[in-house]
Amino acid sequence: MKLLLLGSGGREHALAWKIAQSPLIDELYIAPGNAGTANAGENVAIKADDFDAVANFVVAHGVDMVVVGPEDPLVKGIYDYFKQRDDVKHVPVIGPSKAGAVLEGSKDFAKGFMKRHNIPTAAYETFDGTQVEEGCKFLETLKAPYVLKADGLCAGKGVLIVPTLDEAKKELRDMLGGMFGNASSRVVIEEFLSGIECSVFVLTDGKHYQILPEAKDYKRIGEGDTGLNTGGMGSVSPVPFATKEWMQKVEDEIIRPTVDGLAAEGIDYKGFIFFGLINCDGQPKVIEYNCRMGDPETETVMLRLKSDIVDLFEGVAQGDLDKRKVEFDPRAAVCVMCVSGGYPQAYDKGYEITGADIDGSVVFHAGTAIKDGKLVTAGGRVIAVSSYGKDKAEALAKSMEGAAHINFDKKYFRRDIGQDL
Ligand code: AMP
Ligand code: GLY
Repeated sequence: MKLLLLGSGGREHALAWKIAQSPLIDELYIAPGNAGTANAGENVAIKADDFDAVANFVVAHGVDMVVVGPEDPLVKGIYDYFKQRDDVKHVPVIGPSKAGAVLEGSKDFAKGFMKRHNIPTAAYETFDGTQVEEGCKFLETLKAPYVLKADGLCAGKGVLIVPTLDEAKKELRDMLGGMFGNASSRVVIEEFLSGIECSVFVLTDGKHYQILPEAKDYKRIGEGDTGLNTGGMGSVSPVPFATKEWMQKVEDEIIRPTVDGLAAEGIDYKGFIFFGLINCDGQPKVIEYNCRMGDPETETVMLRLKSDIVDLFEGVAQGDLDKRKVEFDPRAAVCVMCVSGGYPQAYDKGYEITGADIDGSVVFHAGTAIKDGKLVTAGGRVIAVSSYGKDKAEALAKSMEGAAHINFDKKYFRRDIGQDL
């Protein structure tokens, strides 16, 4: 079969690496891809959210399946676009409909959905621009710190955690006043939950689901989880507190009610669901939903997924995912992300990268490009090193050795991925 994968980050390189291993695949295209995905398949110079161009390519090349990496095309409705266009409506799109992607695209919708289906999450209320005073009154009923979330997508910047009530009221006014544009025209205020986070992933065909290996990501730029938030500095799988009993709770109280709830509400959802969970004294609660895989979690999850991912995608498309097998590799996997100095603030691009071939680890490209025949940096998060180990410590040691082996000007990586677990 011919498969087209949309996206261009480390997540997509990891997906491409896994897809390319499937005996079911004759041709893998990645649009637009990066310098790393070019080694797993053929890059195509089409933007993931240019639906006309994507569908035209599918027709011209006889593509049999489209897998969507990032949320943006899903939230904009690529699934529905394909369903509505006669010459591509027979081609399965792995990813939810626009109505399903709202689980990620609107925090208020996600919270309402959890409330309707009794899924454990932080208590909350939502306010719009006409309700600033009500919002301030609600803040007074909560304990510090205060959690304020822009309702819409803000590229990971729309969540503020504020230490004092006065600051929280000020931020609420600013957010409702347009701090994140239309995305913060409504603001979710919620109870602060303390605990360790864990990302759980499932694939669903809308009725059945299969649970993939869980992972934990590291979002802050500095060691010891300090400094600014990033797109992710590394990940680890498995997560020690995600025991069999804990995962059973997650399945019974969160995963099954979510998949059943989507079906009960008539929402067409055939793709990944990413459950951003927090472990509150043994009780898993949902912090957020995403309608795609996590980045950089995918860079460890794909190492630990033993089964053929294309077979699972076929199960999603055909509605018989329950008949497919998911096996996990028992080894640990750790991913360490090398980033550009200055990231997540201003940084330079175009530095030559050397030393990116590493024996015994898997290297996933994120922000890389080929320029004048040379591999160069092309983003803040540049390149990730993922490794197996008999345990987390061994996997981390290998990935750190690999990250040290890669060279580009102003390279930075965290050395403490997974050490808090
Ligand atoms: P979100 O975009 O909703 O995942 O929020 C971004 C990050 O903010 C999460 O990964 C958490 O670290 C943190 N966060 C969000 N909601 C809460 C909450 N209710 N309590 C504590 N931390 C939270
Ligand atoms: N690693 C978190 C995310 O992909 O949103």
